[in-house]
Amino acid sequence: MKVIIVGATGETGQSIVNGLLGAPAEFDITAITRKSSINNSKNQKLRDDGVKVVGVDLDGPQEDLVNVISGADTLISCLNPQAFQSQVPLADAAKKAGVKRFVPCFFATVAPPKGVMSLREQKEDILNYIKKIYLPYTVIDVGWWYQLTPPRLPSGRIDSSLVAPCQGLYGDGTTLSALTDSRDIGRYVARIIDDPRTLNNMVFAYSETLTQIQVYQTLERLSQEKLEYNYITKEALENRISLARDALNRASAEDYRARAALWNAEYGYSWGVRGDNAPERARFLGYLDVKDLYPDAEWISFETYISELLDGTARRAYS
Ligand SMILES: NC(=O)c1ccc[n+]([C@@H]2O[C@H](COP(=O)([O-])OP(=O)(O)OC[C@H]3O[C@@H](n4cnc5c(N)ncnc54)[C@H](OP(=O)(O)O)[C@@H]3O)[C@@H](O)[C@H]2O)c1
Repeated sequence: MKVIIVGATGETGQSIVNGLLGAPAEFDITAITRKSSINNSKNQKLRDDGVKVVGVDLDGPQEDLVNVISGADTLISCLNPQAFQSQVPLADAAKKAGVKRFVPCFFATVAPPKGVMSLREQKEDILNYIKKIYLPYTVIDVGWWYQLTPPRLPSGRIDSSLVAPCQGLYGDGTTLSALTDSRDIGRYVARIIDDPRTLNNMVFAYSETLTQIQVYQTLERLSQEKLEYNYITKEALENRISLARDALNRASAEDYRARAALWNAEYGYSWGVRGDNAPERARFLGYLDVKDLYPDAEWISFETYISELLDGTARRAYS
């Protein structure tokens, strides 16, 4: 199967490349990168791994894009939010080139399409565009990464491996939320894009479902350290969202820090208080469940990831 990946040098993109390269099915992979990034070390690594890397600007002439993607079975987008809008010309080019499946950039927690998370609304707008032009698609959400889940330990011994330590327990800490090791995303994607049942569907590809109390208890048990249970109430989160919205209204359109502050607060409220990011909620919203699709699928356990953090072998995300 011929697969094009846009954003292959990113965190999600690298997991997908690794998952496709390691899968039993054969994937012929081409990475589309912006011309300015063609010589960066991550693109060099992709070439070393046997991936074809092509520099094309997504917002440039459509012909260039169509030429690169013609003949592709699947096109996967794992762009960062700053580049989400470029998925519109990408979808148009994919339609013109006759791509059989477009996987737009979701790869996050489950939530209703509108009214809960502004970042998700941007993704849903792209999905709506894909539906408007009748481009075959698959949406893949993966829950919250293990890599963003643990808090700091009092000893500070896992600090260097945590890119964004959890700041506290949302609500009473008992809301179930689905989690996935970011390294497993690609393994799930390899099966999902090779499966006719997932065409024009949404798939929830997660590994474990835990409450934050369970996360804290696992870390305490494996580290033998005592954590501080700092609770962030529903009202405090609502206030954070409201303040972040006000700050965003005053910020310039390019201020991604202001956007990110709002997204973070909305994420916490959605998965930590509302409980959107849970398998039963996903089923209600129309997702297929990876556990039903592939009962034999294996994944990295949360305990394994915590053990790697503690023995110093866990890679820091975005490093
Ligand atoms: N589930 C979770 O817990 C979780 C956590 C984080 C992110 N996510 C989601 O994962 C998705 C991907 O995010 P990520 O953090 O994996 O991304 P990332 O690591 O920031 O990587 C972004 C990728 O987009 C490429 N890119 C940026 N601008 C581009 C442009 N104009 N043209 C072409 N390529 C461009 C970058 O390429 P170069 O820089 O090499 O050019 C890079 O490969 C998002 O939907 C995000 O919401 C989910």
